[in-house]
Amino acid sequence: AHIELLLNDARSFLSEQPESLQGRITELHHVIHEKLGAGNDFLGWLDLPINYNRNEYARILQAAKKIRRQSEVLVVIGIGGSYLGAKAGLEFLNEPFKKNQLEIIFAGHQMSGIYLANLLEYLKNKDFSINVISKSGTTTEPAIAFRILKKALEEKYGKDEAKERIYATTDRQKGALYTVAKENGYEMFIIPDDVGGRFSVLTAVGLLPLAAAGINTDQLLKGAEEAYDRFMNPSLTTNEAYLYAATRYLLYQQDKKVEMLVGYEPNLLYLNEWWKQLFGESEGKDHKGLFVASAGFSTDLHSLGQYIQDGERHLFETVIQVKHSSKDILIPEEEQDLDELNYLKGKKLSYVNEQALKGTMMAHKDGMVPNLLINIPRFDSFTFGYLIYFFEKACAMSAYLIDVNPFNQPGVEAYKKNMFALLGKKGYENIIK
Ligand code: PA5
Repeated sequence: AHIELLLNDARSFLSEQPESLQGRITELHHVIHEKLGAGNDFLGWLDLPINYNRNEYARILQAAKKIRRQSEVLVVIGIGGSYLGAKAGLEFLNEPFKKNQLEIIFAGHQMSGIYLANLLEYLKNKDFSINVISKSGTTTEPAIAFRILKKALEEKYGKDEAKERIYATTDRQKGALYTVAKENGYEMFIIPDDVGGRFSVLTAVGLLPLAAAGINTDQLLKGAEEAYDRFMNPSLTTNEAYLYAATRYLLYQQDKKVEMLVGYEPNLLYLNEWWKQLFGESEGKDHKGLFVASAGFSTDLHSLGQYIQDGERHLFETVIQVKHSSKDILIPEEEQDLDELNYLKGKKLSYVNEQALKGTMMAHKDGMVPNLLINIPRFDSFTFGYLIYFFEKACAMSAYLIDVNPFNQPGVEAYKKNMFALLGKKGYENIIK
């Protein structure tokens, strides 16, 4: 297996072991693959690693090259599933402090005027391109950001050249973004009908920004393909995605209401954000579902750590450990040892970090917080692709275990209706009485 899932002490908290769910898991595996369950018209992501439109992929790589040739900055506009996958991948594969040839900046993932005004200022003297991403093509946040940034681009280069710098990733035939893109002749990439936002990283949604950033997307897709093959067999002895789903389900049944995804490397922080969206938006329905939270350790051991150790006992943790560091650093000896760190002299920082992980897991277990451990080999694009697919498959299984439709998000509409009414949008006049 490319990644390892260790249930460790979590088993000792469980009155029933995950293996006892094998029958149900195998049943649900068929429900997923034969598309028999709720949301079954949104299962296109399942086959993306082996079935992605190769012509479109070739165009993505071409566009990535063109963007790198033309621009210093690529502004990626999108929110939710149209943003977090690419962001997670960029952070996962990032070498901190290294200046990349192409800078990727996200926009349209909130509605801050401060952010956008400063971004426009920043872009003034830079060559830039835009990748606007929205499956529905009607989401307010990215639509506003696109209207504003498009104007800036057109003012800078003129309408004709601006057109050569805008890439629209959207539905194959509908939505306002589709209309704008068609009307203006922008290069377009398609989000397949049967792939929902948060399951779309392995389409142009994730692949174009990542390829533009110089990331090896061939390897990323290979990683996803390896996960695809491995998780075709529902046996809990080899299917880590289902073992993870079964374990978190049983913990949830035993009143663990919160799962925290925890990493000890800053490169994991946006994987956390992507994971929270994937599981939170897929499972939090019908008054059910684990609340998903996250932390970056050891940073947050000096903040949330207190609560995790000692607060309400409704938590468990899933810890991601990275086995091999691409770079490391030795702690130097000092003659006088005034800071009393000589006991660590010659030790690698990765070793110290690992002892922090081990010590924390022991402490949290003693504090009645079960820990699952996911070991990943290293930060590379293959592993990122593998992890994406691992979590997606685990998420589908998890949601079916609690009997909710993983692929819709009806709850997201509630805020929008009120906001549109408050903004005076046509058709929403009678929402707020
Ligand atoms: O997972 C989802 O479906 C959502 O989070 C969407 O990705 C998000 O709301 C953005 O939607 P759209 O791509 O239609 O602009």
